[in-house]
Amino acid sequence: MNLSIIILAAGLGKRMQSNMPKVLHQLAEKPLVRHVVDAISPLEYDKLHIIYGHKGELVRESLSDVKINWAEQKQQLGTGHAVMQAMPAIPDDHLVLILCGDIPLIQTETLATLCSQANENNLSMLTVQLDNPQGYGRIIRDENGQIQKIVEEKDTNSEQKQIKEVNAGIYAIPAVHLRRWLQTIDNNNSQGEYYLTDIIALAKQDKIAIQTTQAHNNYEVMGINDRIQLANLERYYQLQQANNLMLAGVSLADPNRLDVRGTIQAGRDISIDINVILAGTVILGNRVQIGANTIIRNTQIDDDVEILSNCVIENVIIGKQCRIGPFARLRPDTILSEQVHIGNFVELKKSIVAQGSKINHLSYIGDTEVGKAVNIGAGTITCNYDGANKYKTVIEDNAFIGSDTQLVAPVTVGKGSTIGAGSTITKNTLSNELTLSRSSQKTIIGWQRPTKKS
Ligand code: UD1
Ligand code: CA
Repeated sequence: MNLSIIILAAGLGKRMQSNMPKVLHQLAEKPLVRHVVDAISPLEYDKLHIIYGHKGELVRESLSDVKINWAEQKQQLGTGHAVMQAMPAIPDDHLVLILCGDIPLIQTETLATLCSQANENNLSMLTVQLDNPQGYGRIIRDENGQIQKIVEEKDTNSEQKQIKEVNAGIYAIPAVHLRRWLQTIDNNNSQGEYYLTDIIALAKQDKIAIQTTQAHNNYEVMGINDRIQLANLERYYQLQQANNLMLAGVSLADPNRLDVRGTIQAGRDISIDINVILAGTVILGNRVQIGANTIIRNTQIDDDVEILSNCVIENVIIGKQCRIGPFARLRPDTILSEQVHIGNFVELKKSIVAQGSKINHLSYIGDTEVGKAVNIGAGTITCNYDGANKYKTVIEDNAFIGSDTQLVAPVTVGKGSTIGAGSTITKNTLSNELTLSRSSQKTIIGWQRPTKKS
């Protein structure tokens, strides 16, 4: 059957106590609803319909790159009412896969199994056994194990409350029946809402078979309703990421103290110390070592690179055998060739550093091209900004910049130039010559230190 997909994302998310729609709260730096969209994307489907409502413009904006048929639910009258909003755009002969925008870790394979079990005379739904089923709709089965209905937590009697099999809120239902059932449900329940779950009892009446698929694990179907659940699911997700990395040959000092917020491509024999955050797309070569308390975002790091502790690195390419940190900050559009050393309290921005060059202490290098085998002394600053515009500094191969030098851009330090310590360089320097701009040292004989006035 052709597949139409509906994601419910109009709910208020009251329990989040937030001004932002619940489905835009993030897990691993990605909005909850985006996790769901990513999970369905490998499936072969006709159209994706998303039901939006409360602050819906924000939800639409956050998914502006995805092809979606947006259906507005002006008033949040319940999950059944939400599904109704998409039905006019769905043909009768389709199978409808319904998901919730607040169940982020649902797996593509589970959805594929769920859909494969449904057909014209057969609906399938996802259930899970929970030790603590509180908050979920309970699955009521008869003595033969056939599903009778779903009862929402707030509508359960004390006996039903004991049932541990719950509704995950994810279903595959033939459109023709779904449409008919939705027309019959009412809001005669404790919450005064049109419950989607009421269609199960209607299916039973119509003798449409109800299949259930069990999720692989509880986390896959865990719905986020409050910030505690979100934090718990984040921890679970992070441990999964850590386990995947370890299975792929990465050593972690502590799997509980790594956070992965994106996609990591990792070589072998990498070691990562505690409290590291890897975000965006991070590519790590073989034998890369990452020290404690380091943040790396959208960065590519080649083989045998050593990142010492407390570095912040974003949008950077780092060549083989470089050594970075501790306490280095590499800002966007920085490219380091091989065997470059960047030491403590050094900030690089939009700079290219060629092979074997060293910037080891207390420097700011921005909008700069550094040649090969250059040594930049402690406290060197490229003055790249005059308050209005930015200018480039070029430091050619084999240059040696003495400590505490200011290079006032635009300026070029010639090949093999030496700059005396404490210089302010405003003009291009001659290759292989010594340039310095400090006044010569003098001594004032007999000078007295001032004394405190009484
Ligand atoms: C729902 C199910 C419950 C199931 C649980 C699984 C119903 C009545 N109950 O309960 O059986 O165990 O999910 O997590 O379906 N939404 C709308 N419009 C609305 C109301 C909700 O779009 O008018 C959306 C929400 O944004 C959310 C989803 O539907 O993505 C589920 O709504 P929520 O209020 O969280 O339902 P639960 O009480 O968790
Ligand atoms: Ca929910």
